Amino acid sequence: MLRIGDIKLHNGLILAPLAGITDSSFRKICKSFGVELVFTEMVSSEGIKRKTGRTIKYLYFNEVERPIGIQIFGSNAESMKEAARIIETDFHPDVIDINLGCPVKKVTKTGAGAALLKDLRKLEGIVKGVVSSVNIPVSAKIRLGWDKNNSIKVSKLLEDCGISFLIVHARRAKDGYNIKADWSVFERIKRNITIPLVANGDIEKPDDATYLLNEIGVDAIMIGRGAIGRPWVFGKMKDFIKHGRCSAEPTLHERIKVFLRQIELMEESIDEERTVRRIKKQISYYLKGIPETKNKTHEILTTKRLDKMVSLISGLISNTYIAGSRRLYPV
Ligand SMILES: Cc1cc2nc3c(=O)[nH]c(=O)nc-3n(C[C@H](O)[C@H](O)[C@H](O)COP(=O)(O)O)c2cc1C
Repeated sequence: MLRIGDIKLHNGLILAPLAGITDSSFRKICKSFGVELVFTEMVSSEGIKRKTGRTIKYLYFNEVERPIGIQIFGSNAESMKEAARIIETDFHPDVIDINLGCPVKKVTKTGAGAALLKDLRKLEGIVKGVVSSVNIPVSAKIRLGWDKNNSIKVSKLLEDCGISFLIVHARRAKDGYNIKADWSVFERIKRNITIPLVANGDIEKPDDATYLLNEIGVDAIMIGRGAIGRPWVFGKMKDFIKHGRCSAEPTLHERIKVFLRQIELMEESIDEERTVRRIKKQISYYLKGIPETKNKTHEILTTKRLDKMVSLISGLISNTYIAGSRRLYPV
């Protein structure tokens, strides 16, 4: 069992921060399948400091989502400190995570995200500043380096800065997603630090989870793309970790029911326009590998109205969805 402050992780299953995906609805759905710690997507420290509505909305979460971490990014130590203080005081998450791995140009050109892996003095100032300005655990999420692998050096530095645990996405920034994650680094990093290590990158199958947890000895695993349109992956992993076996992939009917429940949760927390956009982003993941749904997917993607969209999605299952009794998966 992994303990971080008051947080206890029995199986070591964590949902990765995913911009545009891991909103409250998705976090709740993953929670219903057994994920033990979730993260918001990365939020700009400058936006938090200025309290701009567009940024602040990413910080809200529901108590049922706990334990939850809020991830921040930025390149200015004072803004990062201020943002962390605001988050702790006004939102009370269980963890604040510092993004040190985002390779997206919009972020790195400001010196934030993975760009900080090139400037360790600045990285140190930011991380020490955040750790000293809050009382809750602070974590850091890194890639292996910018263009060369300096992950051991960075891991030790981050431990010295006082973070409570380290999340490592096992690719360099320059790799994007073009190569397979290099899981061989986890063993080496683990030997060099004493704080808990969370492995991330290409973890998709239940036996990936047991391999990394039991054979490599990482303290927890973080799943990103493997959970998009497949939040039940956490249930499968949990069963495999506990019993050495797990259920088959859900049927189309079951998948759609999960997605409808997620849509319902989206409607509770975001407006219709954003709900429609998020459905479009995720529908093809939920229907992946089911060729019979191809035509309908096209129709769903070209629809603008939420009610029409929901009825088309419901129509994909033979046991037709009945409006008004949609609470099939209580979360
Ligand atoms: C759509 C998308 C959005 C992402 N957004 C974030 C983010 O906001 N913060 C972050 O640290 N990483 C982000 N990542 C990276 C993931 O958290 C994760 O590190 C990466 O996808 C590797 O893990 P995986 O193979 O399990 O997906 C994002 C990745 C994707 C695909």
